[in-house]
Amino acid sequence: MMNVIILKKDDICKIFSMKEAIKACKDALRIYSEGGSSIPLRTNLDIAGKGGQSLYMPGYAQEANALGIKIVSVYPNNVKRGLTAVPSTMVLLDEETGMMNSIMDGTYLTQIRTGAVSGAATDILARKDSSVFALIGTGGQAESQLDAVLSVRDIQEVRIHSKNVEHAKKFADRMKEKLKFKPSIKIAAVLSSKEAIDGADIITTVTTSMQPTFDGKLVKKGAHINGVGSYTPVMQELDEWTLFNADKVYVDTRDGVLNESGDFIIPMKEGKFTRDIVTGELGEVILGKVPSREKYDEVTLFKTVGSSVLDIVTSRRIYEKAMACGIGQVIEF
Ligand SMILES: NC(=O)c1ccc[n+]([C@@H]2O[C@H](COP(=O)([O-])OP(=O)(O)OC[C@H]3O[C@@H](n4cnc5c(N)ncnc54)[C@H](O)[C@@H]3O)[C@@H](O)[C@H]2O)c1
Repeated sequence: MMNVIILKKDDICKIFSMKEAIKACKDALRIYSEGGSSIPLRTNLDIAGKGGQSLYMPGYAQEANALGIKIVSVYPNNVKRGLTAVPSTMVLLDEETGMMNSIMDGTYLTQIRTGAVSGAATDILARKDSSVFALIGTGGQAESQLDAVLSVRDIQEVRIHSKNVEHAKKFADRMKEKLKFKPSIKIAAVLSSKEAIDGADIITTVTTSMQPTFDGKLVKKGAHINGVGSYTPVMQELDEWTLFNADKVYVDTRDGVLNESGDFIIPMKEGKFTRDIVTGELGEVILGKVPSREKYDEVTLFKTVGSSVLDIVTSRRIYEKAMACGIGQVIEF
């Protein structure tokens, strides 16, 4: 007999903060960069005849007692059925026995850990006095990206831009309502990415774009950039100038970014630069193996494509907190 804890989004929201997620992601990337995790390649299954794909992302990180698998499926036709097109579930196992510990909402886990990894990079790399934040993209991942930056810097102005202007306005209105207890923060949707990044101290792109989303030549000196969206060789949110112009370029994992992200692969194929453009992994910065920001007016860039090490360590921390707080539905198996 074993006890399995079921954790829904609401349960996780009650007990686990963005700051805790940022700490979990810093630990996860440090463990990854010191070779303390086992992260096999993702397994992708085409679900023949059903118009779906199912992706399996396992991982183990001994120091964090984190063992598990995130399952993400992509079923575009689900929208017609009134279901999410990208259902996701995280299954955590006990590393001593292999028995199941917890099943949790993988969609919310992905949102909080993807925000948190940008939050970790922003905390480590952005200038301490950063106050203007440009957010490009207002889809499912955008809110946690905003939460993350707000939780590590004293942001006074948020400029929100998306290809779909109406959507950007609605998103900005929703965020204004959510953050009305912080009236000093000015939040506005803007019509162009040029307007969004003009003088911005921190820029986050979280889009599904196939073309660069802003002109890298217009990035302010001393800015920090988070690139979150591009995760296939044909997706590109950052132009080559953005990468070239950055004084330091960091990644969540070298393997992931250099093999998956068009932001890097497209200009590398055109011979614009080589893999040496990468200064280091964020985990290597945390370990003190590569330098962090050194000068006030340096431009720093962080690119994430995600890794199951972020999922397993963050979900393990959520599980531990849920156990301590008595949150979640316990099922005897
Ligand atoms: N790095 C990671 O670990 C990680 C994790 C989860 C998702 N992602 C990726 O992040 C991206 C965004 O995810 P989502 O769930 O928010 O997607 P979504 O489809 O919900 O939203 C995409 C947003 O991008 C905007 N957009 C598209 N092209 C644009 C352009 N040229 N300029 C401005 N805005 C543009 C759309 O208007 C929309 O607001 C996806 O590519 C997703 O796969 C990355």
